[in-house]
Amino acid sequence: MKEQLLKIFNEHEGQYVSGEKISEALGCSRTAIWKHIDALRKSGYELQSAPRKGYRLIKKGDSIQPHDIKSSLTTKRLGQEQTYFESTESTQIIAHKLAQEGVNEGHLVVANEQTSGKGRLARKWYSRAGASISMSVILRPKLSPQETPQLTLLTAVAVVRAIKKQTGLSADIKWPNDVLLNGKKVVGILTEMQADPDFVHSVIIGIGINVNHHATDLDSEILGIATSLAIEKGSDVDRAALISVILLELETLYELYLTDGFSTIRTLWETHSNSIGTYLTAKTAKSSIYGFAKGISDEGCLLLEDQLGEVHQIYSADIEL
Ligand code: BTN
Repeated sequence: MKEQLLKIFNEHEGQYVSGEKISEALGCSRTAIWKHIDALRKSGYELQSAPRKGYRLIKKGDSIQPHDIKSSLTTKRLGQEQTYFESTESTQIIAHKLAQEGVNEGHLVVANEQTSGKGRLARKWYSRAGASISMSVILRPKLSPQETPQLTLLTAVAVVRAIKKQTGLSADIKWPNDVLLNGKKVVGILTEMQADPDFVHSVIIGIGINVNHHATDLDSEILGIATSLAIEKGSDVDRAALISVILLELETLYELYLTDGFSTIRTLWETHSNSIGTYLTAKTAKSSIYGFAKGISDEGCLLLEDQLGEVHQIYSADIEL
């Protein structure tokens, strides 16, 4: 009900909607509507009411509960089923459990706070309560395990496009999946799978975004390498609306990928990448290779040509530009 009510206010931005119109649209009494309006106010929404005019949404709350996201969600599948936590250790861990229990493709796990977020290469991922986006989406593509890194690259493109749409900011992708603004990391993507040697049961795409962190929220040593959307934009960003747009971009690119394959996604990824066509160092636990980044392979590997002309396929590494 809250979701439908918010949809009506979204459709009538800045305008009053009469109690009669709302009760007709939602098929419930004026008293029931008043109760839902009251609940929205308690969760941070500012709603004005005026005699004979009805209700008007003045300011959205900052909550990212399912009704907040769904009120602006226009996908067919992604995010249509959601599991929300005010606080959880990691949305990735929850999504793994749900995938095993057989939830549908597109199921979204979101948390307002993660207490033990997982990053790439077994690192920790810190997310700030109420300021970050921490979300994991469950996909069930018919792919071989070797092909799943393509979904990581696809996700980075989806996130960059969503950030542009929602904030106007132009982000870059640093191979394989860091999203940067002005050279500083703003988004981390972690793709994990549940698979047999030749069959993928599910892919869990974890997305962590620094959204409404202000400079004082980031440690001084982190401030040199990380940023947030709010810092770069100069004003706070609507987290629920951004999640909806990310899901739409992800669904659009995923459908394109399933019908047309990886080639269009690769082109889009290369367009947004700051790593291709430059000299860089790829550091792994065992070695460090300096060379010219020629592009990415079908498996999502970075193709790095060293000074002797040998092209290395890099599966996993930290990149220094
Ligand atoms: C990275 O190391 O850059 C990837 C970070 C991925 C973080 C996200 S936040 C949502 C999801 N849950 C997790 O525990 N990790 C991912």
